[in-house]
Amino acid sequence: MPILSTTDLNVSRLCLGGNVFGWTADETQSFAVLDAYVEAGGNFLDTADVYSAWVEGNSGGESETIIGKWLAGRGDRDQIVVATKVGMLAGFKNQKRDTILTSAERSLKRLGVDHIDLYYNHLDDPNTPLEETLAAYDQLVRDGKVRYVAASNFSAERLARALEIQEREGFAKFVALQPEYNLVSRDEFEGDLRDVVAKNDLATVPYYSLARGFLTGKYRPGVQVQSPRAGAASKHLDEHGLQVLEVLDELAETHGTTVAAVALAWLAQQPTVAAPIASARTLEQLQDLVPVLSLDLTQAEVDRLSAI
Ligand SMILES: NC(=O)c1ccc[n+]([C@@H]2O[C@H](COP(=O)([O-])OP(=O)(O)OC[C@H]3O[C@@H](n4cnc5c(N)ncnc54)[C@H](OP(=O)(O)O)[C@@H]3O)[C@@H](O)[C@H]2O)c1
Repeated sequence: MPILSTTDLNVSRLCLGGNVFGWTADETQSFAVLDAYVEAGGNFLDTADVYSAWVEGNSGGESETIIGKWLAGRGDRDQIVVATKVGMLAGFKNQKRDTILTSAERSLKRLGVDHIDLYYNHLDDPNTPLEETLAAYDQLVRDGKVRYVAASNFSAERLARALEIQEREGFAKFVALQPEYNLVSRDEFEGDLRDVVAKNDLATVPYYSLARGFLTGKYRPGVQVQSPRAGAASKHLDEHGLQVLEVLDELAETHGTTVAAVALAWLAQQPTVAAPIASARTLEQLQDLVPVLSLDLTQAEVDRLSAI
């Protein structure tokens, strides 16, 4: 298992995304997916206070509540690395001190844990001084409520600035970045952002690792996919996307595995990446993802996919 950058967190090569819990997966389905993920060797869960507030009748915190109930029923909380995020829930869409401290307490309660392993600043907030934001995260670490802090959706410039402030003030430093990054969305991460991550020994934990399902291979010309995310996922069905699928199909055949596992392995083998995040709403979907836990592509295969 890779160690998450400079931390003592051993994380599995696949992080399980929690935005489906309370959205496209109900509690029973979510528990089944969570059990099977751990059974297969996974130990790294990603959620956020805002999941899944976009569903009618929800107000946020549903995913954390499901994970909390699941953890309570198992008794092996220390074997699981729990990551959650703050700053995108209605009424708390900022990175002010009070928002961070109050939201952390609420997340701890919903998760039923006494500490969060990795706490993400979900979205950079240009309207709050970084000093205020970063001091609040530092306080959570000092109070033992959070073990490590991390950033999501930051530009290279703002991430570098935040790290400078943390260094200067002696605050707990970000140990990871969670950007959107996958085989068909590479431009924003590969470049300045990855350079800042590498220079500062951060780990990358990419989201939309499957491009919302596109990189499972289920979106093909002429095929109608039933999913609330079909609109966004099928936008990748262009010439470039088809070329990527063609090579993924071939490599999946070579390795006797799934298209999704090859796409995730490519990501896991990119510089600075510790563990791609992907979600599954059923056991069948999860079975297609978990082979990445032990799949190694050759450098030539990685390069071939990178070159498309
Ligand atoms: N930091 C951020 O701002 C941010 C933003 C977004 C997500 N995230 C995190 O990243 C995680 C992953 O993102 P995501 O779940 O949105 O996208 P994703 O992992 O790229 O795509 C997952 C979706 O693909 C489909 N899928 C998965 N396995 C499949 C299979 N074997 N066969 C067919 N379809 C399959 C499922 O959707 P359908 O069945 O509905 O098609 C599933 O929900 C989230 O759960 C969340 O934890 C973070």
